[in-house]
Amino acid sequence: MGQTFSAAIPVSFEPAIKTTLAIEDTDFSNWMTSIRIRTEDALDFNLAAPGVVPDRLHQAMRYAALGGGKRIRPLLCHAAGAVVGAAPEALDAAAVALEMIHVYSLVHDDMPAMDNDVLRRGKPTVHVRYDEATAMLVGDALQSQAFATLSDAPLPAQQRIALVRELAQAAGSLGMAGGQEIDLMSVGARLSRAELEQMHRMKTGAMFLAAVRMGALCSVSPGHDGDRLLHKALDGYARAVGLAFQVVDDILDVTSDAATLGKTTGKDQQAGKPTYVSLLGLPAARALAQQLHDNGRAALEPLGSRAGLLNKLADLVIERVY
Ligand code: IPE
Ligand code: IPE
Ligand code: MG
Ligand code: MG
Ligand code: MG
Repeated sequence: MGQTFSAAIPVSFEPAIKTTLAIEDTDFSNWMTSIRIRTEDALDFNLAAPGVVPDRLHQAMRYAALGGGKRIRPLLCHAAGAVVGAAPEALDAAAVALEMIHVYSLVHDDMPAMDNDVLRRGKPTVHVRYDEATAMLVGDALQSQAFATLSDAPLPAQQRIALVRELAQAAGSLGMAGGQEIDLMSVGARLSRAELEQMHRMKTGAMFLAAVRMGALCSVSPGHDGDRLLHKALDGYARAVGLAFQVVDDILDVTSDAATLGKTTGKDQQAGKPTYVSLLGLPAARALAQQLHDNGRAALEPLGSRAGLLNKLADLVIERVY
């Protein structure tokens, strides 16, 4: 695993992040490791083997998807699935599909026409290591494979269709791709707070919402788990944590370094991108991340101890800025 979240919260940090220790840190850490391993294995299995024609494209897809990343979307999907008692094999398919869409978005995001980045997950970006045309095709093919994998998920057809719809909506023009368009059109602009929030909710938040919803959609008893309060709680959590994640990403672009993040920092300001740091300043951006974290945890309160993994993942999302 290339990049990992730091496990410890500095003792000097006040106010401390509220943690209801329903799950021991070591159990949570072991759970994360196991999900990351099974996600890596499932990605490996669902990507064409090296040597399959066209070999160069398949090599590049594997280069982009395997051996790195925090796998936060797969983790969220499995954690939400655990709330409803979903089968791990169904969750693997959803997790792989989410990660493939995410990786495709990163490959395209890094291309010269978008953010023009040369480093990703501690390695040269796909267009640098291969070429621009191949990077475009890696994104295209990962997107197709995501839906092929979902179509084969070990679930009844109705649930598979619901998963496909959820992911398609999150990835498309009303979600990630739309948010990326707003991001690119906003270079050099001064967005209002509402506009910035909409951009972040679309480019990043939509995939977080999909990750949590898709975990819940893998339930073995979708009718019975289709409890309105449960879905309201999960949605509230995912919306808050998804926005927090991009606020934290904006902060880290200013405060962290390439060795820690595996991607070049300082790029947002250099490119004139509106971010929560440029709009609010660092202290207020940090306070917002903390507030969103707290909101995410509060949304899960109706779930009680069933929300242990999701609560820990919320902590993890903002630990990186302290
Ligand atoms: C980076 O996502 C792009 C954003 C949506 C902020 P991640 O920070 O999840 O990247 P990886 O998957 O860990 O590399
Ligand atoms: C990217 O946001 C969001 C995506 C949908 C890929 P950024 O452009 O801020 O992500 P990084 O900082 O390059 O990972
Ligand atoms: Mg970008
Ligand atoms: Mg970028
Ligand atoms: Mg960024």
